[in-house]
Amino acid sequence: MKPYTPAPDLLTSRRILITGAGDGIGRAAALACAQHGASVILLGRTAKKLEKVYDEIEHRGWPQPALLPLDLATATPSHYEQVAQTIEREFGGLDGLLHNAADAGTLTPLEHYTPEMWFRLMQVNLNAAWLLTRACLPLLNKSADASIVFTTADVGRQGRAYWGAYGVSCFGLEGLMQILADECAAEKRIRVNSLDPGVVRTGMRSRLYPGEDRDALPAPETLMPAYLYLLGPDSRGVNGQALSAKDFM
Ligand SMILES: NC(=O)c1ccc[n+]([C@@H]2O[C@H](COP(=O)([O-])OP(=O)(O)OC[C@H]3O[C@@H](n4cnc5c(N)ncnc54)[C@H](OP(=O)(O)O)[C@@H]3O)[C@@H](O)[C@H]2O)c1
Repeated sequence: MKPYTPAPDLLTSRRILITGAGDGIGRAAALACAQHGASVILLGRTAKKLEKVYDEIEHRGWPQPALLPLDLATATPSHYEQVAQTIEREFGGLDGLLHNAADAGTLTPLEHYTPEMWFRLMQVNLNAAWLLTRACLPLLNKSADASIVFTTADVGRQGRAYWGAYGVSCFGLEGLMQILADECAAEKRIRVNSLDPGVVRTGMRSRLYPGEDRDALPAPETLMPAYLYLLGPDSRGVNGQALSAKDFM
């Protein structure tokens, strides 16, 4: 992969749903997509954080976004159906879906992992991604050029001690990506890929590594070439790939 420079109007008239859009990488992705012309649908747990992103997009005069507060830990299948119905009503369709929200829990040996934390992480990180994809597929299928991106991590490509349900959910996302990519391959209208952002300066990273020098880590904005490439038309034909953001910088 070569470093990627997105055209300023790369995502004009695309409608893109981003989970975990209120903070960290999801916030940076929402702003970058809106800046490049997309109408972004901001889904996340904390309405106040989503409102701040919404206000920033409005303030900059980028396309009108939408807010969808939803706690993925407790959402039921019918909540995901309602999300899809709202998007269809307000935007008439969907061209991109960025799965980004995640709960990393705490780093603990499997022996000491609590069932509560295991179930919560699998619900937020893996089950929610499948339920949201399932609900949105009819909309994405109607798009002429749709892209689904699953955010994963290196610990979902090679198992590492203490990463527990977070690591297992990332392995699950890679499997979900591969199966869906294979199912979508024949029609070629939806491409499905996974992306490992690498180590990034966010709240999640600080919670997992409180003693680390935050300022030495790259900011979420530095990863945006990879996200824009995968969500925009330049990645047409790229399907079923497990990619890393550093390859686009
Ligand atoms: N940072 C890294 O070094 C790194 C490395 C590898 C992979 N990743 C991946 O990158 C993605 C983004 O992570 P990040 O580093 O940007 O973390 P972050 O700053 O903590 O952001 C995570 C986002 O997910 C949302 N979220 C968490 N639980 C949720 C729930 N139950 N319902 C709805 N939304 C929920 C959070 O909402 P609230 O703000 O409302 O809590 C937040 O907006 C994740 O998939 C993560 O696994 C990050």
